[in-house]
Amino acid sequence: MLRSLLFAPGDSDKKMTKASGIGADCVILDLEDSVAAQRKPVAREMVAEFLRGARTPGVKFYVRVNPLDSGLAQHDIAGVAPAAPDGIVLPKANGPEDLRIVAHYLDVLEAEHGLPAGAIAILPVATETPSAVFGLGDYRHGVPRLSGITWGAEDLGAAVGASANLDANKDWTMPYQTTRSLCLFAAHACGVQAIDTVMADFRDTERLEVVCDEARRDGFTGKIAIHPAQVPVINEAFSPSADELAHAQAVIDAFRANPDAGTLQLDGKMIDRPHLVQAERILAIAAQIAALGKNA
Ligand code: COA
Ligand code: MG
Repeated sequence: MLRSLLFAPGDSDKKMTKASGIGADCVILDLEDSVAAQRKPVAREMVAEFLRGARTPGVKFYVRVNPLDSGLAQHDIAGVAPAAPDGIVLPKANGPEDLRIVAHYLDVLEAEHGLPAGAIAILPVATETPSAVFGLGDYRHGVPRLSGITWGAEDLGAAVGASANLDANKDWTMPYQTTRSLCLFAAHACGVQAIDTVMADFRDTERLEVVCDEARRDGFTGKIAIHPAQVPVINEAFSPSADELAHAQAVIDAFRANPDAGTLQLDGKMIDRPHLVQAERILAIAAQIAALGKNA
């Protein structure tokens, strides 16, 4: 369970080091859009070197490689996999077939370097091309190494020639609400985490709180960050509150006390099976966060 996933450019030792100590559940060392073309080879080496150094306990380290059709992805994966990242973020993934290609590379590299088979996860950014939107339904048929699904609006907007992706209220316009929803359902159909995309306006932490609450309300369990200031807001928003935990426990207790009842009342409100499922989910999320050894 990763609540916050903080990006750090892979050609900045300073930011990679700083990102590791902020409290993010995952740091994504970036080789793609935050690294200039001429810096990509050096970034690849810096990221591998960084991964070989002392890693902050309790933090997962993923690497965002370049897209498969960039001509760089194979070199990126071969360059960083031997340093055993926890996962690879695959941008501009067009569907499960792209993940299978990356999984095959990883199969070979893990064997070659004596790493446990299947240990390196894959997290696709699954909505960054127009074709990818149609591939979202295919993930549910089974994808190796999938640890979650996330989405992105910027590259998709550029690909279709959109002049904006937010409306006057700073809400996603309809095309991005649609892809966000499809990402959510694709992830849940696979039984993996749905991870919400970046909020680029990183100084606006008030707005970030709202956006995180909406994401959590809808079923996302984590969010990407691009700036340290976003991490505590995200961690808090995606951690069940004391009130939520108490309510979830009360729902579970009510059904335990009435094992033959399909529906009950709790504080004057009807509860039935979906409420029990949600209560169990909240407690499971809390347990997974506790297992990370961190609090909000
Ligand atoms: N990881 C680690 N440290 C970061 C950071 C990040 N993502 N973003 C900012 N910082 C550091 C800065 O280096 C600075 O450190 P210092 O006080 O020790 O000098 C501090 O946090 C405050 O940063 P600030 O001045 O507010 O922002 P900035 O102008 O330095 O950086 C960005 C703004 C957007 C360039 C920066 O946040 C960034 O690089 N984000 C990640 C971009 C990325 O990876 N994008 C790809 C995914 S979309
Ligand atoms: Mg991008």
